[in-house]
Amino acid sequence: MKSTKGDQPTPPAFNPVWEALDRLPVAPDLTKAAAEQDQTFKTALDLKHRCSIAVVNYKGGVGKTTATFFLGAQIANDEPKKKVLIVDIDAQCSLTSVFGIDPTQTDDHNVLTLLTAGKKIKPSMIQRDAFLRRGRYGGFPPNLYLLPGALEVEDLDYELAKEQRVTKEEFFAQCRRVLALFHDFDYIFVDCPPNKMLLTQGMLRACSNYLTVVIPDRVSAYGIPRLFRWVEDIPLADRPRLLGVLINRVIRNPSGITDVQEKSLVAVRATVAKHNPLCLKDRGIVGLWPNSNNVCKVYDEGKSHLGQHDIGETRSRQAAVGDCVRAASMNLTSVCK
Ligand SMILES: Nc1ncnc2c1ncn2[C@@H]1O[C@H](COP(=O)(O)OP(=O)(O)O)[C@@H](O)[C@H]1O
Ligand SMILES: [Mg+2]
Repeated sequence: MKSTKGDQPTPPAFNPVWEALDRLPVAPDLTKAAAEQDQTFKTALDLKHRCSIAVVNYKGGVGKTTATFFLGAQIANDEPKKKVLIVDIDAQCSLTSVFGIDPTQTDDHNVLTLLTAGKKIKPSMIQRDAFLRRGRYGGFPPNLYLLPGALEVEDLDYELAKEQRVTKEEFFAQCRRVLALFHDFDYIFVDCPPNKMLLTQGMLRACSNYLTVVIPDRVSAYGIPRLFRWVEDIPLADRPRLLGVLINRVIRNPSGITDVQEKSLVAVRATVAKHNPLCLKDRGIVGLWPNSNNVCKVYDEGKSHLGQHDIGETRSRQAAVGDCVRAASMNLTSVCK
C-alpha cells in the first residue's frame, strides 16, 4: 500500500473483510455431501469445456458484463499464448459494443446464427473463424476474441415456443454445440443477460462453471440464495459448478467498508459456503472489486489501459482495480485448470 500524507489515515486493506468471512464456519455436515457431489461434477465436466464460465445473475446492473470483460482481458493479457473467448448472449449486446462492434453490422456472424443453425454448425460445415472478432481499439490483447451478440436473441424464447419443432432439450444441446465449436480455446466466458430465458439456461448448462457477480447491498445480495437454488434445479450431469461470487462496487472510505456492505459480504459468503463449500478452496469469493470511475473509463474508452493495468489507485486510495482484477483472474485460473 502506498504511504499516506499528513493526517490522512491509511485505509485498512481488504484483509479485515476476509477475516470476517473466514470466521464463518462451513457447515460440517455439508462437506461430505459436497465432496461426493464434486466427484460427479468431475465426470460431467469431462464432457464439457473445462474452462468455460457462465457469468450469471438475473439481477441487472451488478457488473456481469464488466466482470466478464475485465477477467477475460486480464487472463488474455497474462497468458499471451492462450486464447480467450467471450460469448455475448445478452440482447443488449453491451459486450459487443465494448469491443467496438455494432451488433447490427456483423453480417449475421453472431451467436444467434449459430444457435439457430441446428446441426449444420459442425466444424467441417462452417467457417467458424468468420464468427470471431477482436477488439477494434488498440490495447485489446490479440488473444482475446468475441463471439458477437445479436439484438434478436431477445425473441428466441418466443420463436422456440412458436415453432414447437425444437424442444427445450434440443435447444440446450444446440447451446452445447455452439460452445463445442470453440473447444480449442483455453478459456470461454459467457456473459449472460439478467433473465432466466432458455438461452441463459442453455448456456449455463453448456458451461462447466458459473460465477455470479453481486453488489454488496441488501437488495443485491437478497437474490443470491434463489439464484443458486435455480441452478441446483438443473440435473447434476448438466449443472455447472459454482466457482463463487465476485463482489463488485465495494465502497471503501478511510475507516474501511460500511457495516451494510460487511453484512452483505458475510451473508453472501454464508450462502456460497452452504451451496458449494468446496468452491475456490473454501473461499467462495472470487474477488472484491472497488467502485471506481476508472472502471467506467476503461469500459467506455476500451483502449490501451487494459494491457498496462493503467487503472490504478484513485485519489481516495481505493484498492487498484487492476490488482483486484488480477487477483480474481488468478483465483479463477487456479480452480479452472
Ligand atoms: N466496479 C465498478 N465501479 C464503477 N462502475 C461500475 C463498476 N462495475 C460496473 N460498473 C458500471 O455499472 C454499470 C453496469 O455494469 P454492467 O457490467 O453492464 O452490469 P450487468 O452486466 O450486470 O448488467 C456500467 O455502466 C458499468 O460501467
Ligand atoms: Mg450485462
